[in-house]
Amino acid sequence: MDFEQTNPIPMPESGAFSSVKGTLETVFDWQYELERKNLLSLYEKGKNLAWNASDVDWSIDVDLERLVQTRLDGGLAKMTNELMQPPVPLEDDKLLEMQLHTNAFMLSQFLHGEQGALLATAKIVQNVPWEEAKFYAANQVADEARHVEVYHRYLTEKLGLSYQVHPSLGKLLDEIILDPRWDVTFLGMQILVEGLALAAFGVLRMQMADEPLIQDIVTRVMADESRHVGFGVLALEGIYRNEMSSTELREREDFIIEATELLRERLLVTPVFERLGWDADVWTKWSIETPFMRGFRQMTFSKIVPNLKRLGLLTPRVRDAYEKLDLLKYENYKDSVEEPEAPPPHELVELLMQFMQNQAVEGALPGPSAS
Ligand SMILES: [Fe+2]
Ligand SMILES: [Fe+2]
Repeated sequence: MDFEQTNPIPMPESGAFSSVKGTLETVFDWQYELERKNLLSLYEKGKNLAWNASDVDWSIDVDLERLVQTRLDGGLAKMTNELMQPPVPLEDDKLLEMQLHTNAFMLSQFLHGEQGALLATAKIVQNVPWEEAKFYAANQVADEARHVEVYHRYLTEKLGLSYQVHPSLGKLLDEIILDPRWDVTFLGMQILVEGLALAAFGVLRMQMADEPLIQDIVTRVMADESRHVGFGVLALEGIYRNEMSSTELREREDFIIEATELLRERLLVTPVFERLGWDADVWTKWSIETPFMRGFRQMTFSKIVPNLKRLGLLTPRVRDAYEKLDLLKYENYKDSVEEPEAPPPHELVELLMQFMQNQAVEGALPGPSAS
């Protein structure tokens, strides 16, 4: 690929490179048994469905300012102020700023999450014991490299606006990569981080229905991610129900509860308010309490909860934590084996429809600021 850096991603305080030192057990599998047929068939699928980031039509002109302006002309500010009750009513120019920055922020976190997935999957190749899981993970490594490539190119070349990794996401990625237990890497990356991304990508695709380039990118990435989440579920199936002591299970519960907290924090757009020079405390409090945004944050768990249930990890302690976050409503949703895709939950579609019906201009969805 021919690449020239433009509008580089802002760096965290740690600088251009940061490293974490963990102990990693690298496992050879000398029997090459290849008996897990479901993993092998996912591996075959992964190979057949691989795509090339260079095939994306990068000539598409992306002018988000114009797209948001069309929504504003349709009365988006009035709608937003009525439905979301911001601390200060948002004029068109402020809402435009907020939408563009929130969108760049969310996409930047996807980029950083993809880099985490790239590194975590490379680690899985080394420490998962079964050969067929190594095969699949190796294929996933190539997928994740492509995901980093497309999000990075979109952010730097098309948006020209981006954010460094959210500290909570950075912390979670470090923990996932540092943990020597292979199942915790799977659990953290394939079930939690990717499960959340899968649901969030679905919403992004709805909100950006009028931007063809991101539609194409997200559709391609989602097809890969749904396989990745499915891989995590299949690889972990049975382990927590049959093979773990109560102490080991308790450690996994602690991990899920802490990771859930970090993932919820990572969805808060505080860095946007800070960069815009708005009162970050006031605006963050608002974004925590506003029903629409609360609804968005909850729905990003719509795939995670049924997958945890399938794995036997919706234990009384996890249930208790999830009950407090009002996340148990997703427990009877279809898991990633029953339904690999992640359609946005109907409550969210209804909310978005409510916006659309109230808007004069077709396609005038509330936009990424709703995250
Ligand atoms: Fe990915
Ligand atoms: Fe992935």
